[in-house]
Amino acid sequence: MSTQPSAGSRILLGVGGGIAAYKSVELVRRLSEQGCEVQVVMTRAATAFVGPLTFQAVSGRPARVEMLDPGAEAGMGHIELARWADQILIAPATADLMARLAAGIADDLLTTLVLASPAPLAIAPAMNQQMWRHPATQDNLARLCARGVQVIGPGVGIQACGDEGPGRMLEPAEIAAALHPARPLDGARVLLTAGPTREPLDPVRYLGNRSSGRMGYALAEALTALGARVTLVSGPTALTPPPLEQVVQVETALQMHAEVIARAAACELFVATAAVADYRPVAPAETKIKKEHAALEIRLERNPDILAEVAAHRPAPFTVGFAAETERVEHYARGKLVDKGLDMIAANRVGGPRGGFEREENALTVLWSDGQRELPMMAKPRLARALAELIAERYLEHHAPSS
Ligand code: PMT
Repeated sequence: MSTQPSAGSRILLGVGGGIAAYKSVELVRRLSEQGCEVQVVMTRAATAFVGPLTFQAVSGRPARVEMLDPGAEAGMGHIELARWADQILIAPATADLMARLAAGIADDLLTTLVLASPAPLAIAPAMNQQMWRHPATQDNLARLCARGVQVIGPGVGIQACGDEGPGRMLEPAEIAAALHPARPLDGARVLLTAGPTREPLDPVRYLGNRSSGRMGYALAEALTALGARVTLVSGPTALTPPPLEQVVQVETALQMHAEVIARAAACELFVATAAVADYRPVAPAETKIKKEHAALEIRLERNPDILAEVAAHRPAPFTVGFAAETERVEHYARGKLVDKGLDMIAANRVGGPRGGFEREENALTVLWSDGQRELPMMAKPRLARALAELIAERYLEHHAPSS
């Protein structure tokens, strides 16, 4: 899969005021080599690190700095410039720039262009490790991620100030490779389950679980951003679904099973994020169960395994399962990958102090037959974007014509 900006893409490269600004000169060269047109817009602070003339020399266009520059506005006005861009990339994105972007402040040309442009925004953060770790920066990061901003990096290592830790801007080649104006899943039909199921005991009670639907809804949104046409089959949650091709609301595992099986043949990818009840009461009471006895026995029977059934379908879609485990996470997840015949499985530890059910954040170990990737603890929308990228990568590799 090529995740590189396609030739002819018009990239508005915002340069913030940090020492990493010098690397952005090389970034312009890399993007130009890939056939992109690059227009540099610098913050005033950035000009203290690199002169606008340097960017003009490598991009072939005068770098823009001032908002109210009569000369520049006479050429391409700032609104025109905002419309010109296919993609905005800010590298380096300083802590201050991230804060202004998160707050929607438009107090210079670059931040004004971000608000005035419909183009997707990517940022490559660069700052001191303490500034990166500060809760204010992490809050701003979460707000930007929730808005769909692509965050590239930062890297971890020795910093210009002598500190060591996260905050180094990634290398220009890595940033250029991570940009994806091309949508790798364009038109692919994805069927995705999310949320819990409820298995009725009587008309007022049910057996349920702690799934909030956050992970699945975030993944539905992230796959849509990559161009997929997503149908979501969701158990009961308190969430408003993102705009998707279709949303089907269900309550029980049997209903989820029926809705999925009816659509499985028409999808290219199936992603099972839902926490489906393995068992249901054999005979739910028709009227409310009364408190008549000291103990109550409820007989349960197995629900169909939706994921295993879809994976066994021929031709099978590219099938991605989840595994929620409290112990030996990787061991059990690999077992499910093999036993259910999946293409990929995303395993998470549940029942601990962080991640898993209900929480805003999660971490995943993603496994496939001959590889694996760790996605560390982060906010679910950001994690979903990383997982969606990985699913797209594996899916396209799976479908690559053999040479
Ligand atoms: O919803 P959140 O609060 O954000 O929490 C997210 C999550 C923890 C629910 C999610 O990350 C997750 O792990 N989902 C899968 C939960 C689960 O049921 O795991 P499991 O190991 O029991 O099941 C394995 C796989 O089989 C899952 O893909 C599941 O969707 C699927 N399955 C299970 C049983 C069944 N009858 N049919 C199925 O399709």
